[in-house]
This record gives sequence, structure tokens and C-alpha cells, in this order.
Amino acid sequence: MKTKTILLLALTAFIYNSCRNDAYNPDICFQQNVLPIFVNNCTMSGCHNSKDHKSRLDLSTYEGIMKGVTPSHPLRSKVYTTVSGIFASMPIKKKLDLKDINYIKIWIQMGAQNTSNCGGTCDTSSYTYSGRISGIINTWCTGCHSASNKGGGYDLTSYSGVAATAINNRLIGCLKQSTGFSPMPKNNKLTDCDITAIVKWVNSGYPNN
Ligand code: HEC
Repeated sequence: MKTKTILLLALTAFIYNSCRNDAYNPDICFQQNVLPIFVNNCTMSGCHNSKDHKSRLDLSTYEGIMKGVTPSHPLRSKVYTTVSGIFASMPIKKKLDLKDINYIKIWIQMGAQNTSNCGGTCDTSSYTYSGRISGIINTWCTGCHSASNKGGGYDLTSYSGVAATAINNRLIGCLKQSTGFSPMPKNNKLTDCDITAIVKWVNSGYPNN
């Protein structure tokens, strides 16, 4: 009986650990992969940002997000439990992509550190629309700029929408957060690396490549 219990315990520990190991992914970086999920899906006007007092959690910063996180324990972390599962209660009226839910889970499992640039050096040699720019825009902007939610009148889910902000010279000013422009993404800022790639794309005539 005793041996059986020990074996069972050992097996449970083994399964638990292998699941944890499966989830480990050092390429998942807080600033580049996890923060934008919250900024793009949760920080709209009236929701979880620093200005809207009616919201209890400010999800636009690391410190704010950490108020809903127990490091290493996704199931004890409100920011994970409310977006995961069949009965996800957040974000209201939609559900996060499975990939995003997994990123949040893995990041918490890895200890919920404020990590940045895990992929290494900044590479701005590639700045085609399909290879680089649309990825940045989808990660950081389309939650507030789509056909159903056109922040400032802009739908950034397609090339023509993004090009429109380049044509009227609003895009770079907003990203660099220069005076006279609304800072974008709202409640946050892209890395210099991503801004440089977008500047190069705009300066090359913002091609649909
Ligand atoms: C949390 C929501 C939110 C996110 C994320 C966001 N935007 Fe916006 N954006 C808005 C709202 C709301 C407006 C209109 C009000 C304003 O200008 O502040 C706007 C306005 C703009 C404007 C026009 C502002 C001006 O000064 O001309 C541009 C251009 C823009 N966004 C681009 C972007 C880009 C590019 C991203 C991603 C890098 C982004 N936005 C991310 C909500 C957001």
C-alpha cells in the first residue's frame, strides 16, 4: 500500500513537471509578446487603463498587470483565469486567441518577469509590409482599430488602412509620440527597433510588399 502511494505520488510529480517543462518557452518576452496582448485587448477607453477610474486593474503596465498575477501559478492569477477556459469572462464580448492565452500562461509559469528583447539584437534589415509591419500592427493596434472599433476613424486591419495613416503623415508622429500627435499605441510605446522598421517602410514609400 505504502509503495503504491509513493509510486502514485512520483507519477503525479512526473506528469506535473513534464507539463511545466512543455510550457517553458524562453522566447516569450513580457514587453514584446505579453504586454501587447493586454494593451491591444483590454486598455480601451472605459476599460483597464490608468485614466479610467472605474476599472480596478490597470493593464497597460507591468506593475498594473502584476496586481492580477501570482508568479509561477497561472491558476491562481486573475489575469489568466478570467481569459482562459470555456467560461472566460474577459475580454467582454470576445475571447482571446488561444495563442495569446497560452503566452500569458507560459509567461506566468516562467515566473512573470518583466523581460524585454528576449529574441536578442534589434534587426531592422527586413521591413516589408507582410513580413514585418503588419505583424507589429496586428500585435499592438488592431484591438482598437478595426472595422467594428475604428479608433480615430482608422481601421488598421488591412494594408489600405495602415497606408492611409502613412499618407496623411499621422503614423510616425503618433508612434514617436511627437507633440501634436496622439501617442500610439494608446497607453504604451513601441520599442525603438519596431519604430525604426516602420519608419524605414514609410520612407521607402509604404509599399504593399
Ligand atoms: C487602447 C486602444 C488603442 C490602441 C492599442 C491603439 N490606438 Fe490608435 N487610437 C485610439 C483612439 C481611441 C484614437 C482616437 C482618439 C485619439 O486620437 O486619441 C486613436 C487614434 C489614432 C491615430 C490618429 C491620431 C492622430 O493624432 O492623428 C493614429 C494614426 C493611430 N491611432 C494609430 C495607431 C497605431 C499605429 C497603433 C498601434 C501601434 C494604435 N493606434 C494603437 C486607440 C488605440
